[in-house]
Amino acid sequence: MAEPVVVATWPFGKTAVEVASKLLLQGKPPLDAALAGAQAVEDDPAVQSVGFGGIGNAIGTVSLDACVMDGKTLDCGSVAGVENIRHVAALAKKVYEKTPHIMLVGKGAEWFALQNGFQLETLLTPESVAEWYKKRPAKKLETKGHDTVTVLAKDSKNLLGGVCTTSGLSYKLPGRVGDSPLIGSGLYVDDEAGAAGATGVGEEIIRIGGSMFIVEQMRAGKTPQEAVELAIARIIKTATRRGKHPASVAFIALDPKGNVGAACTTGTDFKYAVARGEKIELLQAKEF
Ligand code: GLY
Repeated sequence: MAEPVVVATWPFGKTAVEVASKLLLQGKPPLDAALAGAQAVEDDPAVQSVGFGGIGNAIGTVSLDACVMDGKTLDCGSVAGVENIRHVAALAKKVYEKTPHIMLVGKGAEWFALQNGFQLETLLTPESVAEWYKKRPAKKLETKGHDTVTVLAKDSKNLLGGVCTTSGLSYKLPGRVGDSPLIGSGLYVDDEAGAAGATGVGEEIIRIGGSMFIVEQMRAGKTPQEAVELAIARIIKTATRRGKHPASVAFIALDPKGNVGAACTTGTDFKYAVARGEKIELLQAKEF
C-alpha cells in the first residue's frame, strides 16, 4: 500500500491537509478526505477568503463558489454565486450525487441546498465586515485578495480526489464567477493522469483552462512540477500577448505516484501545505 498524500493551497492549507490525511490513513476515499479538509477551512472565520467569514463582494455580500472532482469516475459537481450557505464544497458534491447535472448557480443552488438539509446562515462576521470597510477600494471595480483553498488528495491505492472552495476575489462585481467552480479551470482530477488546482486571479486561470492544462501535461509525461511551471509560463505568455503584467496566480499538482508540484507568478509569495502520511510541511512555491 502506498503512502497517502495531500496538498493544499496557502498556509491555512495546513489545517486541510491535517484533517484530510487523518481520514486517508483511516481508509476514507480521497474525495471525502479532501472535502473534510476543505470544510475545516470553510468553517474557520479567520480565513477571510473562504466560506464563513469570507470578505464580501462590491456590495458587501459573501458569494461562494466551489467544485469537487473524483479522479476514479470523473464525477464532478459545482456551485457558483451561492449566498448564506457555509459548506459549498459539500453542496457541490451533492449536485452530482443527487442530480443529472454538474453545475448549479445562485438561487437555484440555494434552493437545492435547502432541499438537501443545508442551513441558511449569515456568513459575515463582525471582523469580516470591519475588514470590508477598512480595505474597500477607493476606485470602483478594483478587486483584491484571492486565497482560494484547493485540496488534492491521493489515497493508499493511488486514487485521487480534489476540492476547490472560495469566496472569490474580494469586492468582485455581484454575479462575477471566477475559476474556482469551473471544472478544468480551478480544479481537474483524473486518476489516469493526475490532479491540479488553482488559486489566484480567476480570469487569468480561466483564460488558459489552467487545471485541465496541467493534468494534460502530466498525461503527456510531464512531472507535476514541470506541468505547473508550463502553466505559469502560459499565464505569463498570455498576459504578454495582451500587453498586461501577469496577474497573481498559483497552481498545485499531484500525480498518482504522490509527486507534488507548485509554482506561481512573481510576487505571489505562494506557500502550500503537503501531508505525506502523518508528516506535514509548509513549502514555498517557485516564482516565475
Ligand atoms: N481564484 C478565485 C477567484 O478568482 O475567484
